[in-house]
Amino acid sequence: MNRSPRRRVLAASLSATAAVLAAAGSVLLTAGSADAATTLGASAAATGRYFGTAVAAYKLSDSVYSTILDREFNMVTPENEMKWDATEPSQNSFSYSSADQIVSHAQSHNQRIRGHALAWHSQQPGWVSSLSGTALRNAMLNHVTQVATHYKGKIYSWDVVNEAFADGSSGARRSSNLQNTGNDWIEAAFRAARTADPAAKLCYNDYNTDGVNAKSTAVYNMVQDFKARGVPIDCVGFQSHINAQSPVPSDYQANLQRFANLGVDVQITELDIEGSGTAQANTYATVVNACLAVARCNGITVWGIRDSDSWRASGTPLLFDNSGNKKAAYTSTLNALNAVPPTGPTTGPTGPTNPTDPPPSSPTTPPAGAGCSATVTLNQWTGGFVATIRVTAGSSGLTGWTAGVALPGGAAITNTWNATASGSSGAVNFTNVSYNGSVAAGNYTEFGFQGTGVGPSGTPTCTAR
Ligand code: G3I
Repeated sequence: MNRSPRRRVLAASLSATAAVLAAAGSVLLTAGSADAATTLGASAAATGRYFGTAVAAYKLSDSVYSTILDREFNMVTPENEMKWDATEPSQNSFSYSSADQIVSHAQSHNQRIRGHALAWHSQQPGWVSSLSGTALRNAMLNHVTQVATHYKGKIYSWDVVNEAFADGSSGARRSSNLQNTGNDWIEAAFRAARTADPAAKLCYNDYNTDGVNAKSTAVYNMVQDFKARGVPIDCVGFQSHINAQSPVPSDYQANLQRFANLGVDVQITELDIEGSGTAQANTYATVVNACLAVARCNGITVWGIRDSDSWRASGTPLLFDNSGNKKAAYTSTLNALNAVPPTGPTTGPTGPTNPTDPPPSSPTTPPAGAGCSATVTLNQWTGGFVATIRVTAGSSGLTGWTAGVALPGGAAITNTWNATASGSSGAVNFTNVSYNGSVAAGNYTEFGFQGTGVGPSGTPTCTAR
């Protein structure tokens, strides 16, 4: 089997008993609802999810835009800047300045990054059109490898392949120059991406796959086949561009769930809903609730901030109006996030999974008394790791917390989210950020970090502040 470095999922946790799991389950039911957060990112984080937006580099200097971005969102997707035409304008000559600008903005504002998109039939640079066969296959693989390597360790999930299936009832692959290089081009792209950046979740991303239909079933069959054969795939992105011609399907949630049942995460990757007022607000709530009801739905990304930022601006499909004011759709989205329905957040590890890995284990929660307790879930591979720490409030609730881990010699933290780290090696303390210091009694919040070397073992310390 051609696969990435072996990864182990370790849970430094107490032995799981049905009773403890049941108790943990009841925590999941209440997480987020006791302490309604006031921004999309914080509210999503309270459910173990993210809330993201597409970002255009040239708009970062617009203060209305960047103020909303940095207040509301904790995940960003470069809208065009990581695409093939932007990153490799001439063959083997790479241009990362606009994408780097978004990445560095995100990193300095506690936002994670969805990479979009490594291999796609659209927005290819001109030089690609003269290639075919092996030359095109190799150029595509080189592109995947170079770009994923440039951003290695900085990407939460990559849209490795975008929009490779045809619309309509055929269930066929889209005819394209990439498809003409052989039906295995998709798995070849995923393998190259895994080798280049083993920490990133690798997603297949498409539109008109939001309900159960011939196109989504064709994608489903591909994912099932990939999982069976050990082709590295971790997630499926559902773009969810909604309008009158393409309404939210009644089986939207069921469709997300059937993919999750294959053992992949699901993500809503490019959400926009044309319309206005209450109808639009209700549709946003429907989509948010569907994600919240699927444990493996990691989060939601809207495709722009203000209506005027949208590729479909005339349809006013976003959460903020042209002046940056919150719309009714914003309020319904926030309210839905703050009223977590009774399925709870995902409890799996944040990193990639593979069929041969041990099943991901959820940390059980040791008694916290009046203070707090912490557990770690570790996704370890050769040379690196992602650690997810769960901080659980004791009987008094928390207004701030510090969790500590001891990293073995040679390990170094490269990236932290939802907490501030005191250092990058040895004994490291993590303190809450502004939006996750308050945790009601018995509830929990999660933060994470990524590093090189071997991740922490043992039970983290936890102190109420
Ligand atoms: O930057 C140039 C500008 O210099 C020039 O004057 C102008 C003239 O047309 O074009 C500008 O580039 C445009 C770019 O957006 C930035 O605005 C491109 O023409 C235009 O094609 C491009 O459109 C993007 C589209 O993908 C391309 O396929 C949209 O912004 C972007 O939102 C859209 O995003 C896609 C996802 O990647 C995949 N899923 C569907 C989604 C919506 O189409």
